[in-house]
Amino acid sequence: MAALTALTKSLGYHCAKRSKISTFSQNFPSHNSRFQTLRTLILEPSLSESVKLNRLSDYDSGIVEVNLDRPEAKNAIGKDMLSGLRHAFEAVDRDSSARVVMISSSVPKVFCAGADLKERKKMTAAEELQIPTIAVIEGAALGGGLEMALSCDLRICGENALLGLPETGLAIIPGAGGTQRLPRLVGKSIAKDIIFTGRRMGGRDAMSMGLVNYCVPAGEAHSKALEIAREINQKGPIAIRMAKRAINEGIDREMISALDLEEECYEQTLNTKDRLEGLAAFAEKRKPIYTGE
Ligand code: COA
Repeated sequence: MAALTALTKSLGYHCAKRSKISTFSQNFPSHNSRFQTLRTLILEPSLSESVKLNRLSDYDSGIVEVNLDRPEAKNAIGKDMLSGLRHAFEAVDRDSSARVVMISSSVPKVFCAGADLKERKKMTAAEELQIPTIAVIEGAALGGGLEMALSCDLRICGENALLGLPETGLAIIPGAGGTQRLPRLVGKSIAKDIIFTGRRMGGRDAMSMGLVNYCVPAGEAHSKALEIAREINQKGPIAIRMAKRAINEGIDREMISALDLEEECYEQTLNTKDRLEGLAAFAEKRKPIYTGE
């Protein structure tokens, strides 16, 4: 996948050889009992101490969670986490049953504190996958942490979230896509205010400027993200991938070329079993069961 290659190149990091993926079942406490569910944990022994890949099962099969867990450094992105993220996204990319990814933190009060200021490594944004990605933000998402969230398709935060790009205070600029993704999301003027001042914003302010899709009461971001992931998970997987591609690739094109792209993506959905299943389910007044074919 081209984007992953770009990620590796931009970092100049050597990633450990992929080890065999072992899969076993384990009960994970859900963040909200309403959504308690049995999850399957995919463990790659050489993946990373600080990045876990959890796959939900049964009704939620298709939803994957990339979980950041480096409490001692508030999930700051150092070399180990970066290589863990890379491996996690590669594994998701190879997994044809994956339909939507949630990126979350198991460290209280922090999503990600940004680049590891002690390692002083340059970091880059989270990987862009063909399937939708959702950043689940409780607490701090600063610098590279916010940039990782910006590289996701959707952002959901708790009211206690603290978002900002403080790089100019360190005499550098956001270097993992922040200067490009932020203005595309919230507009040039608001992005300049955020980047020039390095100000830290709360969840409600982030919501009011369009930086996040939803701001929910503190502690409920995970439940909300799961609710959204479940909605996406019920839709035609090829349609979701094509919609993402049409939006992402079309946005910077001239309208005529963008409409051509839409047509190209639309055609990919036409000769699919899922399209026929959607029509049959409608006629039979039942829920469609999509297989991604
Ligand atoms: N890189 C490396 N270590 C980091 C870090 C980072 N980006 N952010 C936090 N840490 C470390 C702290 O140095 C501290 O380590 P120590 O116990 O060895 O001193 C530990 O994580 C806990 O941090 P602390 O500041 O005590 O926690 P807090 O809950 O009071 O605040 C943050 C959490 C995230 C708000 C705060 O740590 C912070 O502002 N971090 C810097 C964020 C930043 O500027 N990122 C942009 C980088 S360009």
